[in-house]
Amino acid sequence: MPGSGRCLNVSVNVLPLAGMHQADVLGGEQRLMTAIAMAQPCLACHGRAIEPELAALIDQRYPDDQARGFGEGELRGAFTLRRSLEH
Ligand code: HEC
Repeated sequence: MPGSGRCLNVSVNVLPLAGMHQADVLGGEQRLMTAIAMAQPCLACHGRAIEPELAALIDQRYPDDQARGFGEGELRGAFTLRRSLEH
């Protein structure tokens, strides 16, 4: 469909970053991108109020962990996938 790429770009500008998701076929490749957003269950370990017992366990197992203090809906990165459609 002509111009469909432009339509997708417009919707991306309107959506909050954390909800971003795009799938396209480009140059013989399937491409996928999905934002990684902090959801409620993630906050148990990445939030601002981590149970002291759990915080101690994370400190013990992952002494270099700095991924804390986030709020719900915050953007943490993105998963990307590129897959060739040619055999
Ligand atoms: C049970 C605890 C726990 C939960 C629940 C959890 N995480 Fe994590 N996460 C960790 C730990 C610990 C690390 C650090 C691992 C390391 O240093 O190797 C980590 C690392 C990460 C990282 C890479 C580090 C960074 O800041 O870039 C991302 C991204 C991430 N988590 C996202 C999520 C998301 C999204 C969710 C919810 C869908 C989630 N996590 C739920 C414990 C958790």
